[in-house]
Amino acid sequence: MNNFIIYGANGYTGELIARTAAERGLKPILAGRSQSKIEPLANELGLEARAFSLEDKKSLEHALEEVDFVLHCAGPFSLTSKPMVGACLRLGKHYLDITGEIAVFEQMARLDEKAKEAGIMIMPGVGFDVVPSDCLALHLKNRLPSATNLTLAFYGLGKISHGTQATMTMNAGAGGAIRRNGEITKVPAAYKTREIDFGEVRKTGVTIPWGDVSTAFYSTGIPNIEVYTVLPEANLKMLKLSRYTGWLLGTKFVQNYLQKQIPAGGPDQEERAKGKTFLWGEASDAQGNKVESRLQGMEGYTMTALTALKIAEKVLDGNFCAGFQTPAKCYGADLILEIEGTTRTDL
Ligand SMILES: NC(=O)c1ccc[n+]([C@@H]2O[C@H](COP(=O)([O-])OP(=O)(O)OC[C@H]3O[C@@H](n4cnc5c(N)ncnc54)[C@H](OP(=O)(O)O)[C@@H]3O)[C@@H](O)[C@H]2O)c1
Repeated sequence: MNNFIIYGANGYTGELIARTAAERGLKPILAGRSQSKIEPLANELGLEARAFSLEDKKSLEHALEEVDFVLHCAGPFSLTSKPMVGACLRLGKHYLDITGEIAVFEQMARLDEKAKEAGIMIMPGVGFDVVPSDCLALHLKNRLPSATNLTLAFYGLGKISHGTQATMTMNAGAGGAIRRNGEITKVPAAYKTREIDFGEVRKTGVTIPWGDVSTAFYSTGIPNIEVYTVLPEANLKMLKLSRYTGWLLGTKFVQNYLQKQIPAGGPDQEERAKGKTFLWGEASDAQGNKVESRLQGMEGYTMTALTALKIAEKVLDGNFCAGFQTPAKCYGADLILEIEGTTRTDL
């Protein structure tokens, strides 16, 4: 037995990962809740298919018994991760996912002891969120071990997928989050803005509750963390407005309406080929010392497929760390340099 399951393989990102895995000669079992969606893809790629819902505990466990680990791609993960990680703990199978949701990272962090007892690795966030930023965070910490403050920023050129938009919409009324003195602290949406020099481009960034608010603390121990992204002017205005309309955005009626408006799919192959991602980070300490670094890499969904499969290949080789893990904590700050098309610059 030396294999894995991609669950949610018919979703935009799951399918991209499944296709990339097949191109690399990997043989994952493709799974999802809908047989009619999973089977045609598996047949096309010459892979095995399994269809079961996450509520069907028996079928879920039966499918996991066949493999070493799962790469969970069905999100929003705040709705899908519990049954999957629960089954992984019961059966002693590693768990990887592509979440970016702070609440999910925190829920997984609480499973650290149980994961160690089961001898499994629980590593959420093996996609664009958080692999490059997590590696950048640890790189900055390595450059300035006395760091007490960490600022990260990312800017992606390209469209976003159905699932990313659905997850963002679901959390739209929840406000912002930063880490302050080691604690995840709620702040208003679009709490701060600042100019960020990504090298090739200079942009105005705005704070968002991105996964690193949770994970960078586990990777670096730095107690104060803020994460920025770049948004089009109209979206920035909407985000600021959500401070007042958040309660409304969270209602079932408005959520149902908004979720139905989200188009299926994501960037096509051409759009992905043209896309790029830029990351910048700064670490500083109480004495006023400061280090800055940048990363540049492929488009976000291409990067997600490559980072998720890079980590999957390591686990297949028996290279894993038991317990709750972040990508950089287990595999080091240079993990991201193993991803083609990625460059890192220290300023
Ligand atoms: N970390 C990152 O950088 C990163 C990158 C890409 C995506 N993501 C996240 O990954 C998730 C998927 O994104 P996407 O664009 O691929 O979404 P998508 O195209 O909407 O696909 C979602 C997939 O999840 C499945 N699914 C949803 N709810 C489910 C449930 N309750 N039980 C079983 N299966 C369920 C869907 O199955 P059906 O087709 O049967 O509905 C489909 O296979 C999102 O949460 C997104 O935010 C993260």
